[in-house]
Amino acid sequence: MAELQKDPITRSDFLGFGVMGAIVGAILTIPPVAFVLSPIIKTDVLGESDVGTGWVEVGPVSKVPAEEPTHFVVSFPIQQVYGTKAVENPNVQDPNEKFTLRNAIWLSWKAPIKEQGRQGSNGDIIGKPERPKILDQKSSGFTESERKEIMSKLNVLSNSCAHLGCPVRWNEEKQLYLCPCHGGLYDINGGWVGGPPPRGMYRYTDAEVREDGKLYVKHKFNIEPGLNKQHPYVV
Ligand code: FES
Repeated sequence: MAELQKDPITRSDFLGFGVMGAIVGAILTIPPVAFVLSPIIKTDVLGESDVGTGWVEVGPVSKVPAEEPTHFVVSFPIQQVYGTKAVENPNVQDPNEKFTLRNAIWLSWKAPIKEQGRQGSNGDIIGKPERPKILDQKSSGFTESERKEIMSKLNVLSNSCAHLGCPVRWNEEKQLYLCPCHGGLYDINGGWVGGPPPRGMYRYTDAEVREDGKLYVKHKFNIEPGLNKQHPYVV
């Protein structure tokens, strides 16, 4: 009787091919995926950023009136490098500003509040914003204690909505910041009032008024969640 021909590929060979295939697949797939995700890994996992960490001038705080927020635009230096090529900002014509990130900042005077603890906020507003009286007497040449007093009363807020980042606007009639995208609402202190944002507006954490009466900021925000247990989006 003729001998049966032996199967040229055994079960262990088959499994070995499978493992080899998986390894080769991983080698081919991981580098491109890591390259695509590297900006996210850099910012969200490692907490690093391409945006410069130095101080940037915002403007004179004396321009901020007593009861309405004022809008300033600042340019942070930025260095985005892909491979060996730096990517220029196509929206900026000035050659000196090609590598910049433009941010809008809202400045306002803090309104007194009832209690601490609202989500990313300072609590319910119970009075009018309090502009430091020293600003009625001078606009520069501030002493250290005057600068501290000014900073203790100043809201320095990013205009990126805390929901999905749309630019918020101040509505004079409602006396609230409104987000045009999904109806987020914030009070003059940047506190959450309504809509889908899970917290209040982002505050610049590194901000200082100098002797010349101008505000300077670094590109740093309070991104940690607040503590408001009443907010529907907080578990
Ligand atoms: Fe502002 Fe959605 S982005 S409410």
